[in-house]
Amino acid sequence: MKKKTGKRKDKRVVKLPNVAVDGPSGAGKSTVAKLAAARLGLIYVDTGALYRTVGLYMLENGVDPDDAEAVGAALPDVRISLTFEDGRQILSLGGEEVGDRIRTEDASRYASAVSKIPAVRAFLLEEQQKLVRQGGIIMDGRDIGTVIMPDADVKIYYTAAASTRAERRYKEQREKGIEITYEEVLAAIEARDKQDSEREIAPLRPADDAVIFESDDYTIEECVERVCAIIRERTNGRV
Ligand code: DC
Repeated sequence: MKKKTGKRKDKRVVKLPNVAVDGPSGAGKSTVAKLAAARLGLIYVDTGALYRTVGLYMLENGVDPDDAEAVGAALPDVRISLTFEDGRQILSLGGEEVGDRIRTEDASRYASAVSKIPAVRAFLLEEQQKLVRQGGIIMDGRDIGTVIMPDADVKIYYTAAASTRAERRYKEQREKGIEITYEEVLAAIEARDKQDSEREIAPLRPADDAVIFESDDYTIEECVERVCAIIRERTNGRV
């Protein structure tokens, strides 16, 4: 048999990597993941916003977020659309952009409550996996490396001590003129950590193959640099 000796063109398409970033609330992972995504040419996906949008629907429609049955019954009416414009994630509910309506204290509480409901997690699964299939994303959440992208190219568990997170949050709240004590902020953070990590479904925990990144001692810029370095190192220069 004649041996082919001609140079063959390599037609393989280099697929952009997917990066999972998980961790507790208030560690600054969204800020850092967003900046790292822009620097590396990846798309930043905030999955917490999806849970917040489902929570917002329940809030605006008088559905008790702790009543799993009522929330499940309302889900078929929740029309969420997730699009990207210049790399910015846009979420709409019933055709209307949610904007900052998902960032209020009430919306946070509702998001946390509905995220414990299996039907809600199943409802949001396909939306997230569609993005995973496209590739080239940095997806931030709680169960990304463990449930949504178990095959992610890079997994980072981005964290900070509860006291560090409470100090930052306390400062932010005071700057906004909100009357609150440091102890109250810390107690709320510890309660949320407990709820997120002890829930039965998709609890917050690092994937076995995640790089643990403790952000306590670094500035935001240093965190971005270190996160980018972890991603570059683990993707052999694909980004
Ligand atoms: O990241 P965040 O604070 O915007 O998330 C809002 C809520 O959604 C939070 O209580 C945890 C939950 N969440 C989740 O259960 N799974 C995710 N992948 C992302 C967020």
